[in-house]
Amino acid sequence: MKPLKRNIFQRVLGICATPTPRHEDCWSYSDGKITIDLGRAPELEQPGSGLRIESKECPERVLVIYGDDCQFYAFRNRCEHAGRRLDPVPGEEKVQCCSVGKTTYDYEGKIMAGSAKGPIKVYQVDLADGKLTVSID
Ligand code: FES
Repeated sequence: MKPLKRNIFQRVLGICATPTPRHEDCWSYSDGKITIDLGRAPELEQPGSGLRIESKECPERVLVIYGDDCQFYAFRNRCEHAGRRLDPVPGEEKVQCCSVGKTTYDYEGKIMAGSAKGPIKVYQVDLADGKLTVSID
């Protein structure tokens, strides 16, 4: 299983690879749903890419990815080991914790390797009219 290429300092400090949106107004949160305007989210154009949603306006940290299978997925962005953030692993159909433990999950949230003991939460996503809706309630 290939780990995401990160150096030891990035792993020790828990610095993830996935960016927050370049266009902060590409998403909004209301009534338990995050809506992302994909036309304003270039971070999600390439298979294996991802975007972090985290803000006071949203009750949960969320990792949204455009998977290697060209489908969108969204995860609670807290590793079940000690809560660090996750990154997609391009070409592997996996997401991986940014910490030293490198817990790795499949797109269904199940653990494939690492220190965590339970699965991560996977949120329902719906795509319509260029907008991706993530239901986090
Ligand atoms: S916090 Fe993810 S493996 Fe430790």
